[in-house]
Amino acid sequence: MKFFVDSADVDAIAELNDTGLVDGVTTNPSLIMKSGRDIIEVTKEICDMVDGPVSAEVVAMEADAMLAEGRKLAEIADNICIKLPLTLEGLKACKVLSSEGFKTNVTLCFSANQALLAAKAGATYISPFIGRLDDINIDGMDLIGDIRTIYDNYDFDTQILAASIRSANHMKDAALIGADVATAPPNVIKAMANHVLTDKGLEGFMKDWAKTGQKIL
Ligand code: G3P
Repeated sequence: MKFFVDSADVDAIAELNDTGLVDGVTTNPSLIMKSGRDIIEVTKEICDMVDGPVSAEVVAMEADAMLAEGRKLAEIADNICIKLPLTLEGLKACKVLSSEGFKTNVTLCFSANQALLAAKAGATYISPFIGRLDDINIDGMDLIGDIRTIYDNYDFDTQILAASIRSANHMKDAALIGADVATAPPNVIKAMANHVLTDKGLEGFMKDWAKTGQKIL
């Protein structure tokens, strides 16, 4: 499973990118607002830093305007992935941009039917929102499973990008159910490395090592 960082915070992305474990970045209008930065400037900085795709979202509501915004965002860098909302207008724009060879990410997906339409529109990624479904007592992970089955039934190339990930458990469950990618906030990705028994074990090893009086270097 590929890991994308769901953030427009350049410092937080850089810290994780340094681990070599980051495959891409996703942003959205709320994350741009949170960064307090200009969308073009901050997105360019992220694109220069990260090798993989960086999703930048259009904000127009109609297909023609989405196309214009998407093409402008794509000028930022070669690794831009144009993010479009899962509406009929967004799908229409997705079909055109995907046919022109742009990478596309169809976002705000909450049903398997929506995901089926995004695949037919040629989306590179479909972004089902796990956490927001959980918020209304619908199991978000069931949706990932349904999309996996449908995409496998028809050999769709669209990659399932599990989004609205809120916990390390979400990451594990997305991996178990077969998501191609998961995008998560930096704190969630970092939390995946934590285990109380790792900390306890390391403390024990360090205490015993100190008693040996040895050095490796
Ligand atoms: O990738 C979409 C994500 O940013 C939404 O997350 O936590 O606002 O539902 P959340």
